[in-house]
Amino acid sequence: MLRKNFFAAFTLITGGLLVLSTSCSKQSPGWEYMPDMYRGPAIEAYQPNSWFADSMGARKPVEGTIARGFMSYEYYPNTNEGYELAKANMTMPSNIKRDSITLAEGAKLYGIFCGHCHGEKGDGNGILMQREKFLGIPSYATREITPGSIFHVITYGKNLMGSHASQVTPEERWEIAMHVMKLRQQLVGGGSEGTAASQDTTAAAADSTAASSNTNDNTQS
Ligand code: HEC
Repeated sequence: MLRKNFFAAFTLITGGLLVLSTSCSKQSPGWEYMPDMYRGPAIEAYQPNSWFADSMGARKPVEGTIARGFMSYEYYPNTNEGYELAKANMTMPSNIKRDSITLAEGAKLYGIFCGHCHGEKGDGNGILMQREKFLGIPSYATREITPGSIFHVITYGKNLMGSHASQVTPEERWEIAMHVMKLRQQLVGGGSEGTAASQDTTAAAADSTAASSNTNDNTQS
């Protein structure tokens, strides 16, 4: 009986010592049941690694990558030829439907980004023109424009007008272009509404002269 107990105690103690001495050493963390989960094979985004020549885990997009929602515009460079090509060939993409929602969106964006120069009606008589802060803004009626040429001009700018590519996405440019074409239609007189609008333009031009003399008065006072 005593002998039996002694053996049991001996086995327990030696067994325990064995477990203790092997389970935790400084070199090894001991048993790992799922090492793949502790040290996954995936590359950490911001950790250097030895897989790539430049050791960067976060890879750059391949050359020529186009961001989602953006279209390639390399066929229409920022030159006179590019402008003419865009004017002649670029048409409104079919996913931009001419409906009240698109037109409202275009009008809203136009009010934010274009109206202060070009005027609410597109007659070139925006607030900056009235106050003589910016000159040489044409009425859309005097320009042969197409949706394609408007897209091009918004993207690259033209002479005194700067590029608006960083402010409006390609889709928004088309929406604005649709609104600009509508304004032009009203200015050159497509129907009774248009005639009224072009008469307004003459009035607005007269107003503008009055406004500019007013501005002078203001500066003096
Ligand atoms: C800071 C003033 C300014 C703003 C803002 C501006 N434009 Fe212009 N825009 C001009 C001037 C100046 C011209 C005349 C450029 C030229 O042909 O010399 C012009 C010309 C144009 C033309 C005629 C180009 C052609 O093909 O002859 C269009 C179309 C046009 N702008 C659309 C827009 C739209 C759309 C916006 C808003 C996204 C806008 N502009 C914002 C000043 C402005």
